[in-house]
Amino acid sequence: MIDENTIGAGALSRDGVAADVALAEVRRLRAGDRPTHGGRLFAYVYDPAVPGLDDLAAAAHRESAHVNGLDPTAFPSLLAMENALVGAAGRVLGGGPGTTAPDVVGSVTSGGTESLILAVKAARDAHPEIAAPRIVVPASAHAAFAKAAHYLRVALDVVPVSVDTLRPEPAAMAAAIRPETVLVACSAPSYAHGVVDPVAEIAAAAADAGVRCHVDACFGGWTLPYLRRLGEPVPAFDFTVPGVTSISVDLHKYAYAPKGVSVLLHRDAAGRAPQYFAYADWPGYTMINPVIASTRSGGPIAAAYATLRHLGDAGYLRLAAVTRDAVAGLADAVRAVDGLRLLAEPESTVVCFTATEDGPDLFVLVDELTTRGWHTQPQLSYAGLPASVHLTVTASVAPRVAEFGPDLAAAVAAAQAAGPVRLPAELASLVGALTPEALTPDLVVGLAAGLGLGDGGSGAGDGPGAGPLPERMALVNTLLDAAPPALRERLLVEFVGLLQRPTWDSDD
Ligand SMILES: Cc1ncc(COP(=O)(O)O)c(C=O)c1O
Repeated sequence: MIDENTIGAGALSRDGVAADVALAEVRRLRAGDRPTHGGRLFAYVYDPAVPGLDDLAAAAHRESAHVNGLDPTAFPSLLAMENALVGAAGRVLGGGPGTTAPDVVGSVTSGGTESLILAVKAARDAHPEIAAPRIVVPASAHAAFAKAAHYLRVALDVVPVSVDTLRPEPAAMAAAIRPETVLVACSAPSYAHGVVDPVAEIAAAAADAGVRCHVDACFGGWTLPYLRRLGEPVPAFDFTVPGVTSISVDLHKYAYAPKGVSVLLHRDAAGRAPQYFAYADWPGYTMINPVIASTRSGGPIAAAYATLRHLGDAGYLRLAAVTRDAVAGLADAVRAVDGLRLLAEPESTVVCFTATEDGPDLFVLVDELTTRGWHTQPQLSYAGLPASVHLTVTASVAPRVAEFGPDLAAAVAAAQAAGPVRLPAELASLVGALTPEALTPDLVVGLAAGLGLGDGGSGAGDGPGAGPLPERMALVNTLLDAAPPALRERLLVEFVGLLQRPTWDSDD
């Protein structure tokens, strides 16, 4: 029996703790995280290193945190800010009054994944007569399209990308369009390699077939237009391209807003209409949702609004220039080291490199960089593409570039000296023989323990703040790299499931 007078577990303290204690706990937990600022984390975070911007965004967030986007008539402030964000995104991406796409409309979503799910939903629901809808995406498209297809029961037709150009052939995209196809998608640029797909050709093929074309500019929609203005050879990818029917752009990436804000744009209101969900057939309020969430905090929207107002067009142009120079510096650092090669010449804000044949084990290299304070993102080998290291570059990296080169060289030397990771024979044969269906809970716990992940599910964790990952990840990455995608998915779902267990004891 739970004693109601003494209940308290996890985040629920028994009598409540003082505000400063609660905040100190958050800060203590945060101390174990990767550094969100300082230009040494090349994924997950987007930091412009603009003094005062965090405080401004936090203050704006606080103003609107309790405002509810559920009903724009109750909170017109939110409606006004959303419309202003959509207007800004539409303008940056080639739409609005005086352009060839004057009727652009849009919605503010919680992130890129939600924008892509809604682009697929709008395309699917525009064709209720198609019983088994399908979408066509390049293999380099963001995984969120696969998630959308899965959630919405839409079939996914994946077109391979060339191992040389890392782009799909437009003809292959065109050939993949069937009578049931409701959407063709491409990226500007792809997350993994930072290359821009042949948007004009793909959009033309989609238009010829009478099919919508979505450009996923979640990553690059706020940098590519500025890079073009700076003189970079950025191909047209936005609403100036005939046949492009919708575009997504994440403000929580290169618009440098705090997390929780993306914009999904449609060329016109008719394109957006099937995105809405409305329901009046219950005794409560009629629900009308343009996006997936119903109740939505105004915090992220207000923070994004204040960020855009403060930085302004000139601010983004300056930040794009700084970022472009940082990309060039990092790419030079990669070129200067024997044993590494760029997987693609940078054309946006990604630097992606791999090892040459006599180069270092990339996963060991990633660990060596981590020990030197550089947090990079390893990418597993896939469909003929080698394993690679991904660097998302933001303006905050610029002052660090000079330090990166020598550390990269030292990390490569250390990785060469250490040699490649060899999977223990029993792990190698296990991965070779294992199918996702054959994974039992015991096997997962054993594997996790063998790899040093979490506490292997024993329930004897070290409490909040203890890192769930081993210091060196090369063994884990090597194991995953040896597994086919379906097994990678299953293993990671199981591992993450082991980490996501409730804490029952509070130490208040
Ligand atoms: C090209 C692209 N599309 C979609 C997404 C998904 O965005 P989010 O993580 O905000 O859901 C990302 C995230 O990196 C991305 O780079």
